[in-house]
Amino acid sequence: MLSADVSLAPAAAAAAGVRPLVRLRDVHLSFGSTPVLKGIDLDVFRGQAVSIIGPSGSGKSTILRCITGLLRPQHGEIEVDGTRVDQLASERDEIELRKRVGFVFQQYNLFPHLSVLDNLIVAPVRILGRDKADATRTAYDLLKKVRLENKAHAYPGELSGGQQQRVAIARALAMQPDLILFDEVTSALDPETVGEVLTVIRDLVRDGMTCVLVTHEMRFAEEVSDAVYFTDAGVIVEHGPANALFRAPVSPRTREFLAHTPSAPETAHAAPPRAPLALDLRHFAI
Ligand SMILES: Nc1ncnc2c1ncn2[C@@H]1O[C@H](COP(=O)(O)OP(=O)(O)OP(=O)(O)O)[C@@H](O)[C@H]1O
Ligand SMILES: [Mg+2]
Repeated sequence: MLSADVSLAPAAAAAAGVRPLVRLRDVHLSFGSTPVLKGIDLDVFRGQAVSIIGPSGSGKSTILRCITGLLRPQHGEIEVDGTRVDQLASERDEIELRKRVGFVFQQYNLFPHLSVLDNLIVAPVRILGRDKADATRTAYDLLKKVRLENKAHAYPGELSGGQQQRVAIARALAMQPDLILFDEVTSALDPETVGEVLTVIRDLVRDGMTCVLVTHEMRFAEEVSDAVYFTDAGVIVEHGPANALFRAPVSPRTREFLAHTPSAPETAHAAPPRAPLALDLRHFAI
Protein backbone atom coordinates (compact mmCIF):
# COMPACT_ATOMS: atom_id res chain seq x y z
CA MET A 1 0.00 0.00 0.00
CA LEU A 2 1.11 3.52 -0.53
CA SER A 3 2.39 5.12 2.61
CA ALA A 4 2.24 8.75 3.55
CA ASP A 5 5.70 8.95 2.02
CA VAL A 6 4.38 8.51 -1.47
CA SER A 7 0.78 9.45 -1.73
CA LEU A 8 1.05 9.55 -5.48
CA ALA A 9 0.48 6.74 -7.93
CA PRO A 10 3.72 5.76 -9.72
CA ALA A 11 2.86 7.67 -12.87
CA ALA A 12 1.97 10.76 -10.87
CA ALA A 13 5.04 10.32 -8.68
CA ALA A 14 7.22 10.09 -11.78
CA ALA A 15 5.51 13.12 -13.27
CA ALA A 16 6.13 15.00 -10.02
CA GLY A 17 9.82 14.19 -10.34
CA VAL A 18 9.93 11.70 -7.45
CA ARG A 19 12.75 9.28 -8.15
CA PRO A 20 11.94 5.60 -7.57
CA LEU A 21 13.78 4.00 -4.66
CA VAL A 22 14.56 1.08 -6.97
CA ARG A 23 14.92 1.66 -10.68
CA LEU A 24 15.89 -0.90 -13.30
CA ARG A 25 16.35 0.13 -16.91
CA ASP A 26 16.93 -2.23 -19.83
CA VAL A 27 18.64 -4.82 -17.65
CA HIS A 28 20.11 -7.73 -19.58
CA LEU A 29 21.77 -10.68 -17.89
CA SER A 30 23.02 -13.97 -19.30
CA PHE A 31 24.43 -17.03 -17.61
CA GLY A 32 27.11 -18.07 -20.08
CA SER A 33 25.43 -17.95 -23.45
CA THR A 34 21.94 -18.26 -21.98
CA PRO A 35 20.05 -14.97 -21.76
CA VAL A 36 17.93 -14.89 -18.62
CA LEU A 37 16.94 -11.22 -18.32
CA LYS A 38 16.22 -9.53 -21.63
CA GLY A 39 15.59 -5.88 -20.99
CA ILE A 40 13.93 -5.46 -17.58
CA ASP A 41 12.45 -2.07 -16.60
CA LEU A 42 11.05 -1.84 -13.09
CA ASP A 43 10.25 0.97 -10.65
CA VAL A 44 9.58 0.74 -6.94
CA PHE A 45 8.71 3.96 -5.15
CA ARG A 46 9.36 4.47 -1.46
CA GLY A 47 6.54 3.01 0.61
CA GLN A 48 5.26 0.79 -2.17
CA ALA A 49 4.74 -2.95 -2.25
CA VAL A 50 5.55 -4.33 -5.68
CA SER A 51 5.03 -7.97 -6.60
CA ILE A 52 6.77 -9.92 -9.32
CA ILE A 53 4.85 -12.93 -10.56
CA GLY A 54 5.49 -15.33 -13.38
CA PRO A 55 6.28 -18.93 -14.27
CA SER A 56 9.22 -20.87 -12.90
CA GLY A 57 12.48 -19.92 -14.58
CA SER A 58 11.16 -16.61 -15.88
CA GLY A 59 13.83 -14.61 -14.02
CA LYS A 60 12.08 -13.39 -10.86
CA SER A 61 14.81 -14.39 -8.40
CA THR A 62 17.45 -13.17 -10.80
CA ILE A 63 15.87 -9.71 -10.74
CA LEU A 64 16.00 -9.65 -6.93
CA ARG A 65 19.61 -10.80 -6.91
CA CYS A 66 20.47 -8.00 -9.32
CA ILE A 67 18.84 -5.46 -6.99
CA THR A 68 21.06 -6.61 -4.10
CA GLY A 69 24.16 -6.56 -6.28
CA LEU A 70 24.65 -10.32 -5.95
CA LEU A 71 24.46 -10.59 -9.72
CA ARG A 72 25.76 -8.01 -12.14
CA PRO A 73 23.97 -7.56 -15.44
CA GLN A 74 25.94 -7.32 -18.66
CA HIS A 75 23.87 -4.35 -19.74
CA GLY A 76 21.49 -1.83 -18.22
CA GLU A 77 21.13 0.31 -15.11
CA ILE A 78 20.14 -0.63 -11.59
CA GLU A 79 19.70 2.09 -9.03
CA VAL A 80 18.80 1.80 -5.34
CA ASP A 81 18.22 5.12 -3.64
CA GLY A 82 20.53 6.88 -6.06
CA THR A 83 23.32 4.26 -5.88
CA ARG A 84 24.22 2.61 -9.17
CA VAL A 85 24.22 -1.02 -8.07
CA ASP A 86 25.49 -2.20 -11.44
CA GLN A 87 28.61 -0.07 -10.98
CA LEU A 88 29.62 -0.89 -7.41
CA ALA A 89 33.39 -0.95 -7.43
CA SER A 90 34.39 -2.49 -4.11
CA GLU A 91 33.31 -5.10 -1.63
CA ARG A 92 32.86 -2.31 0.87
CA ASP A 93 30.29 -0.63 -1.37
CA GLU A 94 28.52 -3.96 -1.79
CA ILE A 95 28.30 -4.40 1.97
CA GLU A 96 26.98 -0.84 2.32
CA LEU A 97 24.25 -1.68 -0.18
CA ARG A 98 23.31 -4.87 1.62
CA LYS A 99 22.87 -2.99 4.86
CA ARG A 100 20.13 -1.03 3.13
CA VAL A 101 18.43 -3.87 1.27
CA GLY A 102 16.96 -6.69 3.33
CA PHE A 103 16.56 -10.05 1.63
CA VAL A 104 14.31 -12.80 2.94
CA PHE A 105 13.98 -16.00 0.99
CA GLN A 106 12.50 -19.43 1.10
CA GLN A 107 15.30 -20.95 3.21
CA TYR A 108 15.32 -18.92 6.40
CA ASN A 109 19.03 -19.55 7.06
CA LEU A 110 18.92 -18.55 10.69
CA PHE A 111 22.08 -19.20 12.69
CA PRO A 112 21.16 -22.53 14.33
CA HIS A 113 23.57 -22.15 17.24
CA LEU A 114 22.21 -18.74 18.25
CA SER A 115 19.00 -18.00 20.12
CA VAL A 116 16.27 -16.08 18.35
CA LEU A 117 17.34 -12.94 20.20
CA ASP A 118 20.99 -13.37 19.24
CA ASN A 119 20.01 -13.99 15.63
CA LEU A 120 18.42 -10.56 15.70
CA ILE A 121 21.24 -8.65 17.35
CA VAL A 122 24.37 -10.19 15.85
CA ALA A 123 24.37 -8.22 12.59
CA PRO A 124 23.25 -4.85 14.03
CA VAL A 125 26.04 -5.10 16.62
CA ARG A 126 28.80 -6.52 14.43
CA ILE A 127 28.00 -4.88 11.12
CA LEU A 128 26.27 -1.64 12.10
CA GLY A 129 28.25 -1.20 15.33
CA ARG A 130 25.12 -0.69 17.40
CA ASP A 131 25.19 -0.80 21.15
CA LYS A 132 24.16 -4.26 22.37
CA ALA A 133 21.56 -3.06 24.89
CA ASP A 134 20.05 -0.85 22.24
CA ALA A 135 20.00 -3.66 19.65
CA THR A 136 18.39 -5.95 22.24
CA ARG A 137 15.60 -3.45 22.87
CA THR A 138 14.97 -3.17 19.15
CA ALA A 139 15.02 -6.95 18.83
CA TYR A 140 12.28 -7.31 21.43
CA ASP A 141 10.19 -4.69 19.62
CA LEU A 142 10.63 -6.59 16.38
CA LEU A 143 9.74 -9.92 17.97
CA LYS A 144 6.54 -8.30 19.13
CA LYS A 145 5.89 -7.08 15.61
CA VAL A 146 6.24 -10.61 14.23
CA ARG A 147 4.27 -12.00 17.17
CA LEU A 148 7.07 -14.04 18.67
CA GLU A 149 7.95 -12.12 21.81
CA ASN A 150 7.70 -15.34 23.83
CA LYS A 151 10.36 -17.08 21.69
CA ALA A 152 13.31 -14.77 22.30
CA HIS A 153 15.34 -17.46 24.03
CA ALA A 154 14.36 -20.38 21.83
CA TYR A 155 16.73 -21.79 19.23
CA PRO A 156 15.72 -22.00 15.57
CA GLY A 157 15.49 -25.79 15.71
CA GLU A 158 12.77 -25.46 18.32
CA LEU A 159 10.53 -23.37 16.08
CA SER A 160 8.08 -24.23 13.30
CA GLY A 161 8.89 -23.22 9.73
CA GLY A 162 6.46 -20.31 9.91
CA GLN A 163 7.98 -19.12 13.17
CA GLN A 164 11.52 -19.38 11.76
CA GLN A 165 10.46 -17.40 8.73
CA ARG A 166 9.02 -14.70 10.95
CA VAL A 167 12.32 -14.56 12.83
CA ALA A 168 14.08 -14.21 9.47
CA ILE A 169 11.81 -11.26 8.65
CA ALA A 170 12.54 -9.69 12.05
CA ARG A 171 16.25 -10.23 11.45
CA ALA A 172 16.04 -8.38 8.15
CA LEU A 173 14.12 -5.55 9.85
CA ALA A 174 16.73 -5.34 12.61
CA MET A 175 19.12 -3.87 10.04
CA GLN A 176 16.62 -1.04 9.48
CA PRO A 177 16.80 -1.44 5.72
CA ASP A 178 15.34 0.96 3.18
CA LEU A 179 13.53 -1.90 1.52
CA ILE A 180 13.02 -5.63 1.86
CA LEU A 181 12.98 -8.19 -0.91
CA PHE A 182 10.94 -11.34 -0.29
CA ASP A 183 11.61 -14.31 -2.53
CA GLU A 184 8.84 -16.90 -2.19
CA VAL A 185 9.06 -16.78 1.56
CA THR A 186 6.06 -19.04 2.05
CA SER A 187 6.87 -21.67 -0.56
CA ALA A 188 8.57 -24.11 1.79
CA LEU A 189 6.03 -23.73 4.57
CA ASP A 190 3.34 -26.01 5.78
CA PRO A 191 0.06 -24.60 4.38
CA GLU A 192 -1.19 -23.95 7.90
CA THR A 193 1.68 -21.58 8.67
CA VAL A 194 1.59 -19.65 5.39
CA GLY A 195 -1.10 -17.31 6.71
CA GLU A 196 0.88 -16.21 9.77
CA VAL A 197 3.85 -15.19 7.64
CA LEU A 198 1.63 -13.35 5.17
CA THR A 199 0.02 -11.51 8.08
CA VAL A 200 3.42 -10.24 9.17
CA ILE A 201 4.24 -9.06 5.64
CA ARG A 202 0.81 -7.44 5.33
CA ASP A 203 1.50 -5.49 8.54
CA LEU A 204 4.87 -4.34 7.21
CA VAL A 205 3.31 -3.14 3.99
CA ARG A 206 0.65 -1.28 5.94
CA ASP A 207 3.37 0.34 8.05
CA GLY A 208 4.84 1.71 4.81
CA MET A 209 7.87 -0.56 4.45
CA THR A 210 9.01 -0.65 0.85
CA CYS A 211 8.71 -4.27 -0.27
CA VAL A 212 9.38 -6.25 -3.42
CA LEU A 213 7.66 -9.61 -3.30
CA VAL A 214 8.22 -12.59 -5.53
CA THR A 215 5.25 -14.76 -4.74
CA HIS A 216 2.95 -17.47 -5.95
CA GLU A 217 0.28 -16.31 -3.53
CA MET A 218 -1.80 -14.47 -6.10
CA ARG A 219 -4.58 -13.41 -3.79
CA PHE A 220 -2.07 -11.98 -1.39
CA ALA A 221 -0.20 -10.21 -4.18
CA GLU A 222 -3.45 -8.68 -5.38
CA GLU A 223 -4.40 -7.57 -1.88
CA VAL A 224 -1.14 -5.94 -0.76
CA SER A 225 0.58 -4.76 -3.93
CA ASP A 226 0.53 -1.28 -5.36
CA ALA A 227 1.96 -2.61 -8.60
CA VAL A 228 2.48 -6.06 -10.09
CA TYR A 229 4.97 -7.13 -12.75
CA PHE A 230 4.37 -10.29 -14.74
CA THR A 231 7.56 -11.88 -16.08
CA ASP A 232 7.91 -14.56 -18.69
CA ALA A 233 11.10 -15.83 -20.31
CA GLY A 234 13.18 -12.92 -19.05
CA VAL A 235 10.91 -10.07 -20.07
CA ILE A 236 8.23 -8.04 -18.31
CA VAL A 237 5.18 -8.99 -20.28
CA GLU A 238 2.88 -6.63 -18.43
CA HIS A 239 2.81 -4.48 -15.34
CA GLY A 240 0.34 -2.21 -13.66
CA PRO A 241 -1.80 -1.65 -10.59
CA ALA A 242 -2.63 -4.93 -8.89
CA ASN A 243 -6.37 -4.88 -9.53
CA ALA A 244 -5.89 -4.03 -13.21
CA LEU A 245 -3.33 -6.75 -13.80
CA PHE A 246 -5.28 -9.44 -11.99
CA ARG A 247 -8.79 -8.42 -13.02
CA ALA A 248 -8.23 -7.12 -16.54
CA PRO A 249 -4.89 -8.33 -17.89
CA VAL A 250 -4.13 -7.01 -21.34
CA SER A 251 -1.67 -9.59 -22.61
CA PRO A 252 -2.95 -13.04 -23.65
CA ARG A 253 0.14 -14.52 -21.97
CA THR A 254 -0.77 -12.90 -18.64
CA ARG A 255 -4.33 -14.16 -19.01
CA GLU A 256 -3.10 -17.67 -19.73
CA PHE A 257 -0.76 -17.65 -16.72
CA LEU A 258 -3.42 -16.37 -14.35
CA ALA A 259 -5.94 -18.88 -15.65
CA HIS A 260 -3.60 -21.71 -14.65
CA THR A 261 -2.69 -20.30 -11.27
CA PRO A 262 -4.81 -21.36 -8.35
CA SER A 263 -6.14 -18.38 -6.46
CA ALA A 264 -7.19 -20.33 -3.43
CA PRO A 265 -7.33 -18.65 -0.04
CA GLU A 266 -3.86 -17.92 1.25
CA THR A 267 -4.08 -20.39 4.08
CA ALA A 268 -5.19 -23.22 1.85
CA HIS A 269 -2.56 -22.94 -0.83
CA ALA A 270 1.18 -23.22 -0.78
CA ALA A 271 3.28 -23.69 -3.88
CA PRO A 272 5.32 -26.90 -3.93
CA PRO A 273 8.78 -26.69 -2.38
CA ARG A 274 11.41 -25.47 -4.79
CA ALA A 275 15.10 -26.04 -5.22
CA PRO A 276 17.14 -24.27 -2.53
CA LEU A 277 18.31 -21.52 -4.84
CA ALA A 278 19.17 -19.30 -1.94
CA LEU A 279 21.71 -21.56 -0.25
CA ASP A 280 24.61 -19.90 -2.00
CA LEU A 281 23.37 -16.56 -0.66
CA ARG A 282 23.46 -17.71 2.93
CA HIS A 283 26.19 -15.42 4.11
CA PHE A 284 24.39 -12.40 2.70
CA ALA A 285 21.27 -13.00 4.74
CA ILE A 286 22.20 -10.49 7.38
N1 LIG B 1 23.57 -19.37 -11.22
C1 LIG B 1 22.95 -19.73 -12.34
N2 LIG B 1 23.61 -20.30 -13.36
C2 LIG B 1 23.00 -20.65 -14.52
N3 LIG B 1 21.67 -20.47 -14.75
C3 LIG B 1 20.95 -19.91 -13.76
C4 LIG B 1 21.54 -19.52 -12.51
N4 LIG B 1 20.57 -18.99 -11.73
C5 LIG B 1 19.42 -19.06 -12.46
N5 LIG B 1 19.65 -19.61 -13.67
C6 LIG B 1 18.67 -19.80 -14.72
O1 LIG B 1 18.07 -18.55 -14.98
C7 LIG B 1 16.69 -18.70 -15.26
C8 LIG B 1 15.91 -17.81 -14.34
O2 LIG B 1 16.07 -18.27 -13.02
P1 LIG B 1 15.33 -17.62 -11.78
O3 LIG B 1 15.82 -18.35 -10.59
O4 LIG B 1 15.51 -16.17 -11.82
O5 LIG B 1 13.82 -17.97 -12.10
P2 LIG B 1 12.52 -17.75 -11.20
O6 LIG B 1 11.56 -16.98 -12.03
O7 LIG B 1 12.92 -17.21 -9.89
O8 LIG B 1 11.98 -19.24 -11.05
P3 LIG B 1 11.26 -19.97 -9.81
O9 LIG B 1 9.83 -19.50 -9.81
O10 LIG B 1 11.38 -21.43 -10.14
O11 LIG B 1 12.02 -19.60 -8.55
C9 LIG B 1 16.37 -20.18 -15.11
O12 LIG B 1 16.37 -20.77 -16.38
C10 LIG B 1 17.52 -20.70 -14.29
O13 LIG B 1 17.80 -22.04 -14.59
MG1 LIG C 1 12.86 -17.92 -7.95
